[in-house]
Amino acid sequence: MMLGMALPAFSQEDPVEGAKVFKRCFSCHMVGPDAFNRTGPVLNDLFGRRAGTVEGFKYSDDMLREGAGGLEWHPDTLDAFIENPKVLVSRTKMRFSGIKDPVDRSNLIAFLRQYSDSPANIPEADPTIVPRDPDVDPEILAITGDPDYGAYLSGECTTCHQVDGGDEGIPSITGWEPVDFVTALHAYKNKHRKHPVMQMMAARLSDEEIAALAAYFQNIEQ
Ligand code: HEC
Ligand code: HEC
Repeated sequence: MMLGMALPAFSQEDPVEGAKVFKRCFSCHMVGPDAFNRTGPVLNDLFGRRAGTVEGFKYSDDMLREGAGGLEWHPDTLDAFIENPKVLVSRTKMRFSGIKDPVDRSNLIAFLRQYSDSPANIPEADPTIVPRDPDVDPEILAITGDPDYGAYLSGECTTCHQVDGGDEGIPSITGWEPVDFVTALHAYKNKHRKHPVMQMMAARLSDEEIAALAAYFQNIEQ
């Protein structure tokens, strides 16, 4: 987390610069009147759109679930997704490591805004520059979890999440890379992910407890 880094919070985002950043998306996404779905869905009319709803595009189950759960594309959610897609959608089909520079992201978001149908889709209250950092602090990711402690804590989770890896409505959380597991839980804790029950569960857990749960669920028998 780059505290102390001078965020240009008051500078104007620049869609022309954003067009250059979009080159990193263009291998998979198109915008504009002739756009069609490629590896990724068309990004026209993105603002205010519910995640996972472009017709004819086959999304991952995770994206569909997040969309059904209320995830919509606004500057703040786009900023989080573009910085690190897994913050919002753990097993997204979007294979993209993310754009770490906040200026590049806000320019890109300003560029994408031009392709929303009408300005009415873009609430005034949606500022493009979002001075937050959804990525998880490397120090938190580096904590080695104690799987025995995780096993002890896990009873609270397995009332909903099935330990056989079953995925009936509630996602499976076994066999994950700890980095993805920890990133997902912190996204609930920081309210980047909206699910109220999981926000409440995550809010009660310390960084060490989250690491312990990640270590436990990673190696659980499936
Ligand atoms: C390697 C291909 C690839 C690259 C590069 C890529 N994406 Fe994606 N993108 C995808 C795929 C595939 C999906 C669908 C994800 C899913 O279903 O989980 C997606 C989904 C999205 C969505 C959600 C759209 C919706 O309809 O809900 C947004 C927004 C998005 N990408 C923006 C971007 C931006 C901005 C960039 C560049 C910074 C980018 N992507 C780079 C492949 C890519
Ligand atoms: C009351 C039921 C319930 C309990 C208890 C619960 N969860 Fe969840 N969990 C859910 C639901 C529902 C989702 C999907 C939410 C969403 O769509 O964002 C979820 C999502 C998750 C995810 C993200 C999954 C993904 O595919 O992105 C993780 C990780 C997770 N839970 C871990 C835990 C842990 C660890 C505990 C115990 C501390 C726990 N959960 C307790 C219901 C529960």
